[in-house]
Amino acid sequence: MHPNFLSLADFSTEELSDLLNLADLLKEQQRTGVDHRELKGKVVAMVFEKPSLRTRMTFEAGIFQLGAHAIFYPDKLGARESEADVARNLTRWVDAIVARTFRHESVEIMAEYASVPVVNALTDRLHPCQVLADAQTLREHRGGLDGLKIAFVGDGNNMFASWANLATRFPFDLTLVCPEGYEGDEAIHAFAAKEAKGSVSVSNDPAEGVRGADVIYTDVWASMGQEDEKSARALVFAPYQVNAELMSKAKSDALFMHCLPAHRGEEVTDEVIESDQSIVFDEAENRLHAQKAILVALMKNRG
Ligand code: CP
Repeated sequence: MHPNFLSLADFSTEELSDLLNLADLLKEQQRTGVDHRELKGKVVAMVFEKPSLRTRMTFEAGIFQLGAHAIFYPDKLGARESEADVARNLTRWVDAIVARTFRHESVEIMAEYASVPVVNALTDRLHPCQVLADAQTLREHRGGLDGLKIAFVGDGNNMFASWANLATRFPFDLTLVCPEGYEGDEAIHAFAAKEAKGSVSVSNDPAEGVRGADVIYTDVWASMGQEDEKSARALVFAPYQVNAELMSKAKSDALFMHCLPAHRGEEVTDEVIESDQSIVFDEAENRLHAQKAILVALMKNRG
């Protein structure tokens, strides 16, 4: 097993399935009050360059439930101290590092210099913790991922990139439905085209791209760090809003997913996010359990 959790592409199908099964077990243990303090006495550093509700809360709550202790370090890496030096200090004191950074290279550098596991809690390139929790959520609602048709509507951003990585491990069909020029990282598309277990495609036509979908997923049009592009993007992405009309092109029982926070009235309407088809808070709930599984698996792996 890979010593760090930086990208879903670092893990095999079997390893990801094991992580998802462990997440289910930890969820059941939490629900039924079974003691699962598997990381008793351990300490986890939480390095966050960007704001967070779900990721910070679920890691801190999960770390406590596992019997460990979290220390929050909100600072911009590289300004006061380099990523390498932060990692070389932390590794002397703590048993794992959870990091949310702007540059993906920052978590890679930390992983290189730390001798404890490093977990990617979101970078500009990838958000693997979110997509692992999403996979757990889809297994609960649809029994698995195999054969699903998933339409990711919006920017080809870090969320789409992690979904594309997941598509190289499980056989589902993933379509990025986006305006021309917003397909995102070419390397991610090339990797997915070569390795997809089902298919990964791009459509610039919203109605066509979501036709017959089992799942419509979306995310904000301007990610953290792209705030100055917000008004330009609002115009380009307007035809890609997930509203009742777009949902009607998917399967009648299609699920709506969003990593949150949502900008209601922009990428999704209130009507859709509040509908019975929406499972956004189930996804948020599973962040807790999926991340506990990641920490247990990585930290036990290191002994
Ligand atoms: N989805 C997600 O990562 O939420 P936060 O940015 O609030 O952590």
